[in-house]
Amino acid sequence: MIIFENVEYTYPNGFKALSSINLEIKDGELVALMGENGAGKTTLLKHLNGLLKPSSGRVIVNGVDTRHATVASLSRDVGIVFQNAEDMFFSPTVWEEISFALHNFGYQEEVIKKRVGWALKFMELEDYRDKSPFLLSGGEKKRLALAIVLAWSPKIVALDEPTVGQDVLQKEKMIQIIRQANQQGKTIIISSHDVEFIADLQPRIILMSKGKIIKDGYAEEVLTDLSLLKECRLIPPQMVSLTYELGFLGIKPHLGQPEDIALEIIRRLR
Ligand SMILES: Nc1ncnc2c1ncn2[C@@H]1O[C@H](COP(=O)(O)OP(=O)(O)OP(=O)(O)O)[C@@H](O)[C@H]1O
Ligand SMILES: [Mg+2]
Repeated sequence: MIIFENVEYTYPNGFKALSSINLEIKDGELVALMGENGAGKTTLLKHLNGLLKPSSGRVIVNGVDTRHATVASLSRDVGIVFQNAEDMFFSPTVWEEISFALHNFGYQEEVIKKRVGWALKFMELEDYRDKSPFLLSGGEKKRLALAIVLAWSPKIVALDEPTVGQDVLQKEKMIQIIRQANQQGKTIIISSHDVEFIADLQPRIILMSKGKIIKDGYAEEVLTDLSLLKECRLIPPQMVSLTYELGFLGIKPHLGQPEDIALEIIRRLR
């Protein structure tokens, strides 16, 4: 369980990036943080593992007040895959990059081998195991960043802009990985501007703007609210725009599969 109680955060230069954040995320939830550039999504995620501590208010993660815990201890339960994957790299090889955290958490060599092998396979990075992380392509770096976190299997996985630089195949795979991890009981929190990707996942959506939460609801409700999306500088999902245009047929804006919408149009025209 994650609880934000009246959280405010001001960066050292005096910029207030979060204000009046009240939020509860239950175990096993799938949540998307959406909102314009600079809305405060990354700042909020960094509070989950104590990288940032609230300037006022409290963040409680699995019963622990983050102000009284170290990043190292919180990280066992919370893995954050950063927006800029390179921020997570410092090892000479992909293999060592993934095994580093596992060594730190004190896993035995045999277990480490198994977990790193699994993560490399799962993220299709086996061919790069001895390569420098810095020499991977942008999309591969993102996958490595996710492999690092999945290898230690934290209960809460936060993904900051996971689809940036990913091709269609990798995006579909990302959706499968997220669903699978969520079905295994993990809490997943994704920050993303990618409305189509989020529409596919159908999560609870927390919309942020200028450091505040302006809406908290399920995908169908949030992604069909065109004026709200505009306020957060988000492009509506294509199916929502299409069904909006079909209003003259008595169709309401909604998320849906193209086949279903085509059938709806045929039915209405008959
Ligand atoms: N280290 C910092 N010092 C001062 N201000 C910062 C710092 N990091 C971020 N900010 C500011 O805080 C605000 C929130 O930034 P944040 O990175 O949380 O936004 P975001 O919602 O993740 O945006 P994006 O969609 O661009 O990733 C921005 O206005 C940003 O300029
Ligand atoms: Mg961000």
